Amino acid sequence: MADKTYENIKIERQGQITFVTLNRPEKRNAMSPGLHYDMEDALLRLDDDEQTRVLVLAGAGEAWCAGQDLKLYFRETANNPAERKKSNTSSHNWRWHILSKFSKPTIAMVQGYCFGGAFTQLCACDYAIAAEDATFGLSEVNWGILPGGVVSWNLTENLLPRHAMYYATTGEPFSGKRAEEIGLINFAVPKDQLMARTMELANKLLKLNPSVVRFTKEAIRAVTHMREPEARDYLGVKQDGLAKADKEIGDKVGMKKFLDEKSYRPGLGPYQRPTD
Ligand code: ACO
Repeated sequence: MADKTYENIKIERQGQITFVTLNRPEKRNAMSPGLHYDMEDALLRLDDDEQTRVLVLAGAGEAWCAGQDLKLYFRETANNPAERKKSNTSSHNWRWHILSKFSKPTIAMVQGYCFGGAFTQLCACDYAIAAEDATFGLSEVNWGILPGGVVSWNLTENLLPRHAMYYATTGEPFSGKRAEEIGLINFAVPKDQLMARTMELANKLLKLNPSVVRFTKEAIRAVTHMREPEARDYLGVKQDGLAKADKEIGDKVGMKKFLDEKSYRPGLGPYQRPTD
């Protein structure tokens, strides 16, 4: 079945890899209320879409995302509390709630600008790859707001406190290379290799057992907020859940292949899964 079409985003597929692209290039993909509604709808659909095994979040044109749309999201809803509330809820839903809990691995593929509110979807994605010459910035301070929504929280979760403080209070833009140095993204790559390196990661993820990837990413996010006793308890229960959710894991297929068949070494890579 053909994908639904949207005014502000586009959906494209390469096999089991689905690209969702913010598509307001003339406005540097600034996030309008309409874009939020489109993204919320699309991500909810794709979360349940069996063909989608890896999701890539991209931006059309010169920017990945220039943050919230200052005109359409802020100014034009200033006197319309109902619309402000609706778009604010939708904005939070897709950028954090849905994306950070997405059931398949998610990759932010960043070129050009990434400003302000865009840091939330950047941090919600499980992985981020950016062009070395991409420009990141917490520009909120330059026009008189603090990094709101959950951006300040995203910063302290992903960066050392000194880096979070410095970039949030100065608004100083920084490159993809610097973003890699401070741990905001996984890899900074030459711009002409951005797509190839993203596909390389996506294809690597496709080879893994999707249930293990899903349970692991959920666990990594969940334990951050726990103390050691709760984390230990949670991880034990989570492992039991994984064994129930996936027959291959429940049957200990991987362990049998290593210990009995001696057909692969788990330290060096995944064995060929019997089913896809
Ligand atoms: N909100 C609304 N419109 C925007 C935004 C934005 N965040 N960013 C860019 N645009 C629009 C511009 O108004 C312009 O529209 P126009 O052609 O109708 O005049 C168009 O996109 C192109 O922008 P330019 O500034 O002409 O493009 P340039 O490539 O020179 O600069 C840049 C791009 C650096 C992104 C610049 O537009 C900018 O600084 N934007 C604001 C970025 C920002 O501060 N974002 C954080 C917002 S706050 C938040 O997210 C909570």
